[in-house]
Amino acid sequence: MNEAMAELLSALTDSRRAHSIGVGQRMESVAKLLPAGIRADAVTAAYLHDVGYGHPDIGFHPLDGARLLQSLGYSQVVCHIVAFHTAAEVESEVRGLDPRMFDEFRLTDVVGLDMADDFMWWADLSTGPNGEEFSVDERLAEILRRYEPGSVVHTAITRAEPRLRMAVQRASGSM
Ligand SMILES: [Fe+2]
Repeated sequence: MNEAMAELLSALTDSRRAHSIGVGQRMESVAKLLPAGIRADAVTAAYLHDVGYGHPDIGFHPLDGARLLQSLGYSQVVCHIVAFHTAAEVESEVRGLDPRMFDEFRLTDVVGLDMADDFMWWADLSTGPNGEEFSVDERLAEILRRYEPGSVVHTAITRAEPRLRMAVQRASGSM
């Protein structure tokens, strides 16, 4: 992690920062399995995936983070991975946000991007809220405990669970 990234993470709470660093390290441990051209961006995105919590604008952290990083000149791939991380589209539906807000971050024809997205979701879902190593089951149970039934995140994670598990399965299958 470089200084600029550490500076961005300094706006997060201690636990979110520890989680972010854990997710970044998790991605570093598997990045060599990704096509060479996308490795560095996947690692950057993993460290910065939750940076939107520290720089709120619309109040939806995946898009707040992607927009912030775009304004700072981070690559389209980094911004894409952050915008779409861990079923962000499902949570945006639950929040009633306009799905067109994702459009500027959609990318096609980037070698290894689907795999990098899967690795991002896996890294997030196998890292606890303080950076611990978690199984996916532990992580999903932990999120559902932390957010009340009926809350946006609880509803979104419940709705997204099959997609989350499929992404993790694909990622694990290529490790
Ligand atoms: Fe997140």
